[in-house]
Amino acid sequence: MTIASRLPFEIIRDPAAMRARAEDLRRDGRRIAVVPTMGYLHDGHLSLLRAARAAADVVILTIFVNPTQFGPSEDLARYPRDEAGDLAKARPCGVDLAFCPDVAGMYAPGAQTFIEVRELQRPMCGETRPGHFAGVATIVAKLFHLTQPHVAFFGQKDYQQVALIRRMVRDLDFGVEIVACPIVREADGLAMSSRNAYLAADERAQALALSHGLAAADAAFAAGERDVAALIAAARAPLDAAPAVRVDYVELRDADDLTAITTVTGRAVLAIAAFVGKTRLIDNRVLGAKA
Ligand code: PAF
Repeated sequence: MTIASRLPFEIIRDPAAMRARAEDLRRDGRRIAVVPTMGYLHDGHLSLLRAARAAADVVILTIFVNPTQFGPSEDLARYPRDEAGDLAKARPCGVDLAFCPDVAGMYAPGAQTFIEVRELQRPMCGETRPGHFAGVATIVAKLFHLTQPHVAFFGQKDYQQVALIRRMVRDLDFGVEIVACPIVREADGLAMSSRNAYLAADERAQALALSHGLAAADAAFAAGERDVAALIAAARAPLDAAPAVRVDYVELRDADDLTAITTVTGRAVLAIAAFVGKTRLIDNRVLGAKA
């Protein structure tokens, strides 16, 4: 890992100051890792920070609830925020610098330039969240410009997001290595998410239908099933049986380019989005891979 000594922890809020600091760090020959987040950190985020710590000299955590990736009827205003709590959790994981800009700093008045990853943004979450991935791609590009990372860490729970960021980085020659870290789950299997905080006790119990659906389809796959419709039916059964759960989508697609398939012949990802009460949760599993 690091040859250079650790830096004293700092918080930067001003984007221009962040870029100047990152340029200095690069000039000093430091390898920079960034972990972009919207805050309200859970163990999944902390696993990204630990992986970043092991891979770089300087670990930058970004905390920014990005308005452009929320639709007009989504949860931007009530999205959970706890900067002090986040920093208390992040610092023991080896973060050197937290970049915590505000909306006015990140979006100049009249900002109208957006990055669109045309095909990858379309299916799955793109269908119910139009504009979401343009918001994600744009803010991630901006965060890369400001933090100048050599390597960036994202959670595999946001499978489509990772695929899209990889494609953007390749297509636009960002020169940043993208590392996707495994989904971190609660003891009973629920994928960790900042949005789990919204769930009432009964909803929390029914939210297990997502991981149960993935497990059911994976069991069918292990037993030899390769027909996409049948695998999706297996995944849907626990979701349809849970009264508080409303399926947004259950899709089984090529794991690399997310194109539609009818039979599984190579690596395939099963992805679920479902509302549990009013809370929209996502989860996924590459069939046949370690859960
Ligand atoms: O995954 C997230 O938390 C966000 O989509 C990201 C990548 C930080 C962009 O706002």
